Amino acid sequence: MTKADSLQKLPKHIAVVMDGNGRWAKKRHLPRSMGHKAGTKAVRKLIENVVALQIPVLTLFAFGTENWQRPTDEVEDLMDLFFTHLEKEVALFQEHNIQVRIIGDLTLFSETLRDCILRTQSLTATHTGLVLVIAASYSGRWDITQAAQQLAQDVQEGLLTTKQIDAAKFSTKLCLPDLPDADLFIRTSGERRISNFMLWQLAYTELYFTDILWPDFDKKELDAALEFFNSRQRRFGKV
Ligand code: IPE
Ligand code: MG
Repeated sequence: MTKADSLQKLPKHIAVVMDGNGRWAKKRHLPRSMGHKAGTKAVRKLIENVVALQIPVLTLFAFGTENWQRPTDEVEDLMDLFFTHLEKEVALFQEHNIQVRIIGDLTLFSETLRDCILRTQSLTATHTGLVLVIAASYSGRWDITQAAQQLAQDVQEGLLTTKQIDAAKFSTKLCLPDLPDADLFIRTSGERRISNFMLWQLAYTELYFTDILWPDFDKKELDAALEFFNSRQRRFGKV
């Protein structure tokens, strides 16, 4: 029995900002691309550990809206990795019954990558195990803005009155309306920021920060985050 197995409560939805690939590489005098490559190994391990713990939802912040502003080489490199891994890991998704969902502004991706995303989503759509959400070309403000646009459209078409817009209605237009909000947020590499990740969905989330760089995030680190979560008492604004 591992440490995590003995915990009383496990999160239902973990959201992770995987940060520190560049610094991991720099420490080893390697190019940043090697850090991203090492980061994908940590992703695979995390997925397997989360599946083993039967945690229902895992959301990974793979690429933010602002990341498009990185040097072209690095963006291309990240896109390449994303594409290769989505294709390569289909076997893993089948084996573990994982449903994959990609959230973000898909219009900014190349057609090849967009096709690959849609293919992976439809191939795994009926899977009933872990829901693996990959946030790519995503930002919390983008999500809230696109929801507002949809609501405005509905009002314009007379399907809805402004008065009918409340938090519950708003949520239905955001990404992941059918999933529980994240209850545990993890960010690696010592940064203590949300950095425009799931702004709406993190309203009551327990925030866990660790100095570990993403490629070094292993089972021991996951256990530490779960232990932190287990020690928190969540009151949702009540006493
Ligand atoms: C996270 O690592 C990976 C992505 C944002 C895609 P970074 O590339 O941000 O690594 P640091 O922050 O430079 O160390
Ligand atoms: Mg970073």
